[in-house]
Amino acid sequence: MTRKPLIVGNWKMNKDHLESLTYLQKLYWILQDKNFDFTKVDLCILPPFTSIRSIQLLADTDNIPILYGAQDVADSLDGPYTGDISASFLKKLGCAFTLVGHSERRRYHDETVKTIIGKLRMSLEQSITPILCVGSVNADDDSAIDQQIDYALMQVSKALSQLENYSLNNLVIAYEPVSAIGTGQTIELSDIDIMTTSIRNCVEYQGNKKSADSVRILYGGSVDATNAQLILQLDSIDGLLVGGASLDYNEFARIGLLAAKGVVYDN
Ligand code: PGA
Repeated sequence: MTRKPLIVGNWKMNKDHLESLTYLQKLYWILQDKNFDFTKVDLCILPPFTSIRSIQLLADTDNIPILYGAQDVADSLDGPYTGDISASFLKKLGCAFTLVGHSERRRYHDETVKTIIGKLRMSLEQSITPILCVGSVNADDDSAIDQQIDYALMQVSKALSQLENYSLNNLVIAYEPVSAIGTGQTIELSDIDIMTTSIRNCVEYQGNKKSADSVRILYGGSVDATNAQLILQLDSIDGLLVGGASLDYNEFARIGLLAAKGVVYDN
């Protein structure tokens, strides 16, 4: 792997701020105990908004090098948008990443391409790295891999075509087939490989070679400590977006350690 692996834990609507603090402390202790090398792998948690300030205080006070971010962000910087959270607030809270266009946001909150592009822009303007999620939103999607590729590539190119003024070198794209999210069923490794390779080619076509070489592409959907290693062995993959399995700090630590094991990244 030439890019630094990135393992992201998407907690979704789980853990209040006290539970979040316990989790971060324990995760850090386990990793320290196992001599986890934080320079080789980026490990990031995405707690609910209500936990971010607590996480920031603990991470700063104890010098914890685990990154954190937000599961969503507003598509405007400020103004009369009740309930929305600005990228500038998240920046002040030390968020390194925002998750943008997760299928649950697209499905339950009717997020459109325009909204997703706004969220990508706001994040990039605040120097927060957006993790753009792509994949069909149809849960019982059993369409052939070619159709699924077409759908994901259409999502990537629509988004990137509107980001011409931004550097895409730090962008992260997460491919998540909805049929694999929360179902315990990952898709075929060969399909993950084809999809992620196609996404990188699409970034090169829409952007340039430099962006395509540096963009990190993650797989998400029922990843756990038993299947993580096989997925991470794919050359086309730079990391994982982990939902359910990230709620247990032992399991998430195991996934991080597996990522560190196979790493050839040199910073
Ligand atoms: P899962 O969720 O790992 O529980 O399938 C992944 C996601 O929704 O990001």
